[in-house]
Amino acid sequence: MLSLAKLSLLGVLAATVLAADPAPPPLNYLFSVNLTFAEPISIGSVPYGTRDLLTISGGTAVGPKISGKVGKGLDWGLTSRQGVFSPDALYSLHTDDNATILIFEKGHAPHVHILFETASPKYEWLNSAVAYATGGPNEVGVGLDVWQVR
Ligand SMILES: *[C@@H]1O[C@H](CO)[C@@H](O)[C@H](O)[C@H]1NC(C)=O
Ligand SMILES: *[C@@H]1O[C@H](CO)[C@@H](O)[C@H](O)[C@H]1NC(C)=O
Repeated sequence: MLSLAKLSLLGVLAATVLAADPAPPPLNYLFSVNLTFAEPISIGSVPYGTRDLLTISGGTAVGPKISGKVGKGLDWGLTSRQGVFSPDALYSLHTDDNATILIFEKGHAPHVHILFETASPKYEWLNSAVAYATGGPNEVGVGLDVWQVR
């Protein structure tokens, strides 16, 4: 027969098992962005793969939270020997309501995380936001859909 102590221990174990598979965090859709690129500069084969300097020349962002135009930026992504492209990008976004936002993007294609920096009071909330984005090459350059992790 199971004692009460053993039963409550089983309860603790069951709770531990449940806690090992927590609910995923909700994602709030922020915007989609298309990045256009100037002629890339190939750095070539470096110790961890192939390095390229991809100059971001512009683009557009459209969405419920942010809409505007991409200014300038740089992606010094690395392509691993296994063929995985890991972008490491920084670019500015000028919103339709005149805020300037700096976007930091890093990850392993097609999954990236995004951090923001801005002096705009309206977009102050972006300074502590963490976003997830996914996407890839399209006919204009690279397209990404961006969600804030809540
Ligand atoms: C990005 O480009 C695609 C293909 O031209 C277009 O369908 C889409 O609306 C564009 N998105 C943005 C945010 O500009
Ligand atoms: C943004 O700035 C431009 C140029 O200074 C101005 O024409 C426009 O009215 C401004 N828009 C907003 C929403 O502040």
